[in-house]
Amino acid sequence: MSAITATPSQLASQRRSDDLETAIDRDPSAFRILSGDRPTGPLHVGHYFGSLANRIRLQDAGVEVLVLIADYQAITDRTAPAELPGIVMGLMADYLAVGIDPSRATIFAHSQVAPLNQLLLPFLSLVSVAEIRRNPTVKDEIAATGSGTVTGLMFTYPVHQAADILFCHANLVPVGRDQLPHLELTRTIARRFNERYCQGAPYFPAPAGLLSAVPLLLGTDGQKMSKSRGNSVPIRATADETVRLLAAARTDSERFIGYDPKRRPEVANLLLLTALCRDTSPEAVAADIGAGGAAALKAAAADAVNDRFAAIRARRAELAAEPGYLRSVLAAGNDKAGTIAETTLQAVRELMHQMY
Ligand code: TRP
Repeated sequence: MSAITATPSQLASQRRSDDLETAIDRDPSAFRILSGDRPTGPLHVGHYFGSLANRIRLQDAGVEVLVLIADYQAITDRTAPAELPGIVMGLMADYLAVGIDPSRATIFAHSQVAPLNQLLLPFLSLVSVAEIRRNPTVKDEIAATGSGTVTGLMFTYPVHQAADILFCHANLVPVGRDQLPHLELTRTIARRFNERYCQGAPYFPAPAGLLSAVPLLLGTDGQKMSKSRGNSVPIRATADETVRLLAAARTDSERFIGYDPKRRPEVANLLLLTALCRDTSPEAVAADIGAGGAAALKAAAADAVNDRFAAIRARRAELAAEPGYLRSVLAAGNDKAGTIAETTLQAVRELMHQMY
């Protein structure tokens, strides 16, 4: 997906996110969060700072957290089917290692929750083909396929995503900017369902998007950091791999290191990564390195990542050695999501008068 520059409506979303943070502080138990990842590969440090850290913060603040492994979307991503189980178990190890707590959070894969998927049909009836075609994220995804083949699944997946969110009545969805159009469609579907079937007593909440306060990390090539582009530092990477990946990062030929995201995006990105790992500001890191140049910057970034993730990586290695445990955590999450989805589907049948 391409980086989308902020429009006035996205700026408004950012303001709404700030207000939501205040509301969460006041009463975390009023919120249920659904967030998700596509199983396309191991999670990377960009996921950690952009999304996982936020989920853990909210979980620890007392918000109910559901984590979705969006394995039907992996079909459109063309993940090799035989690799899927390994990738999904890798995600489980990543989630638990970074601190998602299975005794409080629910981790599930949507392919394993049949009644969730059944919501897709009534939801499809609530949107027009033109609305899906106009969706900027769908347009980007279609452009990204290159081949020009747009499957029915790819076309419908913003509606499927609405089922992911609404089946559990999530009222808060942490998202990147690129997902805001999907969320808007989810809100539309919730509103139309309520109008058509729930006279005066809305059944589905209109979920709010929660934008991360952390600026987007770029990959080592200066492009968007992405599991599929090979330009990321995976959470599970070893210390040596981290050094190697960051030593190969693109920088520029200016000797003196300074923080200037517009003019020197690659250098700024390494400064940001280092700063996030050290809980300081990119300006402070730049001041530290100064005339040390790109080599010192890359070494500092690798050290900072290795320090920050050492404990997480050790825990992840232990978890990865317990595939039976990981499978049991996922099975319990699937069961729990299944119970929630069955209740919702039953209510939807009743509201739609499909009870015979
Ligand atoms: N589309 C999301 C992504 O590309 C993954 C996803 C699927 C998701 N369903 C969701 C995210 C529901 C949030 C809510 O990463």
